[in-house]
Amino acid sequence: MKNSRLVAGNWKMFTTPEEARTLTSEIVRHQTAFGPVEVALFPPFTSLAAVREIVGKTKIRLGGQNMHFESEGAFTGEVSGQMLKASGCSMVILGHSERRQHFGETDQIINRKLKKALGVGLAPIFCLGETLSERKSGKTFEVLERQLTHGLEGLSFDEIKLVIAYEPVWAIGTGVNATPQQAAEAHRFLREKLAALIGVPITQNLCILYGGSVKAEIAKGLFAEKEIDGALVGSASLKAAEFVEIVKKARI
Ligand code: PGA
Repeated sequence: MKNSRLVAGNWKMFTTPEEARTLTSEIVRHQTAFGPVEVALFPPFTSLAAVREIVGKTKIRLGGQNMHFESEGAFTGEVSGQMLKASGCSMVILGHSERRQHFGETDQIINRKLKKALGVGLAPIFCLGETLSERKSGKTFEVLERQLTHGLEGLSFDEIKLVIAYEPVWAIGTGVNATPQQAAEAHRFLREKLAALIGVPITQNLCILYGGSVKAEIAKGLFAEKEIDGALVGSASLKAAEFVEIVKKARI
């Protein structure tokens, strides 16, 4: 477990720049209550500039929800890691199940994106997690192992400066969260696998977030698990008061 936690807000395809400004201002108003908890916001690309104006002078980090693995080129509708950096981002979410599910992102594509992000100095939040049918058929660990090994293929220990988010697909946007025990079990597995993969016990410094229907009311139970280093929050991050409450509960 890390000695400080990270709570990240994934705003998905919500907020106009104006709405993003209002939401960010509300969150920033409470920043003294965050204590040592790191906070990162992931607005849609079109709201990055608006959020940056407000968080620029704070410790709150800014990130993109996705990026392409090339630096530039004829890829209509895409943005690159360099563009995110130049827009004030220090982080990027990669491998989110919605990207895998709706946009055909494979482990191989995610691997290329992770390499690129790390290469340009963005800290990725690398998301992985099993579907309900995979869990029901006892394949959870098999799926996690596959996503982890393929996603990180070819990366050396020095390069792996990332955050992992365990997000069971069945818990995302469903209101059904994994129990703290289920999440801790998956986190422990990922930590062990990664240590074995890299051959170095880096597990102490590795930050593993839980994501999937995180709300203020369940945050305390989740954070009671020492394996859980923070949360990737979707819908509850669109309500400033609720998001701030989750951040407060992450204080150690
Ligand atoms: P949720 O989303 O909190 O709305 O379930 C989490 C995520 O997709 O990162």
